Amino acid sequence: MNQKDTEKKLSAEKAVEIIEYGMTVGLGTGSTVYFAIKKLGERVKDGLKIKTVSTSNSSTDLARSFGIEPLSIDNAGIIDINIDGADEADRSFNGIKGGGGALLFEKIVALNSKKNIWIIDSDKLVNQLGNYPLPVEVIPFGYKRVFGILKKYDPAVRMKDDGFYKTDSGNLIFDLHLNKIEDPQTLDAELKQITGVVETGLFIGIADTIIIGRKDGTEILIK
Ligand code: A5P
Repeated sequence: MNQKDTEKKLSAEKAVEIIEYGMTVGLGTGSTVYFAIKKLGERVKDGLKIKTVSTSNSSTDLARSFGIEPLSIDNAGIIDINIDGADEADRSFNGIKGGGGALLFEKIVALNSKKNIWIIDSDKLVNQLGNYPLPVEVIPFGYKRVFGILKKYDPAVRMKDDGFYKTDSGNLIFDLHLNKIEDPQTLDAELKQITGVVETGLFIGIADTIIIGRKDGTEILIK
């Protein structure tokens, strides 16, 4: 396993240690969460009883492959702990998510959760957000207008194979190349005011705990 995957696994497994019998757990999306779902599956096999809510079709499929059947979010009630990855996180507990395209469901699950834990490898902890392209979910109808408005942020429509990438809701993703985000809150508000923008990958003040995988262990930041 390479260094990055080792860090992802360490942070994911540390988060899963916190899960207790009877909890409702949010399952994020991505390659770091993969290790968390796998570990949760092992604990469930050993007798841990939990309910889960998934943030994407891919995480639902993964959970099922490890013997976990997620509930629909509207039948699950309040989620005790949501475990998710991030593409960038700062020490103010702000971050960029959506590299895997699941930002909308991820934000909805996060907002239904009492506690949000991010699991990241050490490269993702940054002093300032924005080096990672910011994903923005946009409805397909009239997307060219939204693209034009966002032109100043150097957008790219995310592609897959020979067509547009589509989210689990059938929407498009625009990746904005910002390099630096001086004021995440103001940018988020500006983007969300554009009709046709469904959600942004800026997660501001949502995470409570960030578990950073390091070569030889984990660093835990608690808000
Ligand atoms: C999914 O849309 C994303 O928000 C992921 O949580 C994020 O991209 C982290 O993914 P990795 O763990 O694969 O880097």
